[in-house]
Amino acid sequence: LSLRPYNTLAVDVRARYFVQVDSVEQLCEALRWAKAQQLEVLLLGGGSNLVLSNDFAGLVLQLNLRGIDWLENDSEQAVVRVQAGENWHEFVQWSLAQGLSGLENLSLIPGSVGAAPVQNIGAYGVETKDSVVQVQALERDSLTPVTLTAAECDFAYRDSVFKQQSNRWVITSVDFRLSRTPELKLGYGPIQSWLTEQGIDAPTAMDVSRAVMAIRQSKLPDPAQLANTGSFFKNPIVSAAQAQRLQHEFPQLVSYPMADGQVKLAAGWLIEQAGWKGFRQGDAGVHAQQALVLVNYGQATGRDILELASRIQADINQRFAVQLEIEPVVYR
Ligand code: EPU
Repeated sequence: LSLRPYNTLAVDVRARYFVQVDSVEQLCEALRWAKAQQLEVLLLGGGSNLVLSNDFAGLVLQLNLRGIDWLENDSEQAVVRVQAGENWHEFVQWSLAQGLSGLENLSLIPGSVGAAPVQNIGAYGVETKDSVVQVQALERDSLTPVTLTAAECDFAYRDSVFKQQSNRWVITSVDFRLSRTPELKLGYGPIQSWLTEQGIDAPTAMDVSRAVMAIRQSKLPDPAQLANTGSFFKNPIVSAAQAQRLQHEFPQLVSYPMADGQVKLAAGWLIEQAGWKGFRQGDAGVHAQQALVLVNYGQATGRDILELASRIQADINQRFAVQLEIEPVVYR
């Protein structure tokens, strides 16, 4: 079976076995079977944060667990339990329609709810961790259901315990605490600009969601039109001293001070400065509107994409002495 329809980078690799599971029981059964056959298991959500560079000789497991349950619901807030296979953006829109806010800045992010905590998806000043109460998962070895509190998830920028120990658990559902009294996060400049342009001066959470969708659509390629996996690199975090040196040499450097004194740099800016924006090598390319996004124009393989990534990493290291780290999960 070709995995091309199951990864947004549209890489054409084959899987030996493929199964879609609709319940935790089916998930257990599939994992047990794979173990008995001594097969490696690749878990698939929306396939939107994944680089496949080889055929996969094991079992590809697509999680299709569905449903949303109310755990708490009063006039101020609600806690909802969302099954891992729900589509992220549809869940965000559902929450807004219920009058709940907290996730509006995370509108239009591709992928599934179960994948969201893994890399602590974030955008426009908000991260998944800001609303997660706890995560239900299945421990793959023992097939035991476990619950991890937000603290136990060890969330950090594009990181969590699920990313650190990538083969240990399968996330089955996520509990989110959302608010009925919106505290909108409008700090990201383009959100405010969009609202002003539309003449909206008392925005609702829904308005912020619309702003975010407009901004994303203007910069980020829709995987259905142009295959990609979102930001291909993390924004690098450097010491204050290094940031200062770079700032001195490159006065236009885009950087964000962090609470701990370190400084986050805009990798897109570094890549654009280095001249890569819009670059194309065969069918692998650097998006023309956002240098942080690598795209597949058609027939690029995972290896083509990774080779382009290596060239960019080497060049950025040489020019700025900054090591870019790949953001999506890579299967070699
Ligand atoms: N920039 C450039 N050239 C570019 C791209 C960016 O100069 O080609 C500079 C601009 O000055 C811009 C700044 O970099 O102001 C930041 O760019 P942008 O706002 O587009 O965000 P980003 O840092 O490139 C991150 C996330 C995105 C998220 C946006 C918005 C990471 C790895 N990426 O990108 O997340 O949507 O911020 O919050 O942190 C993803 O993870 O897949 C993703 C799309």
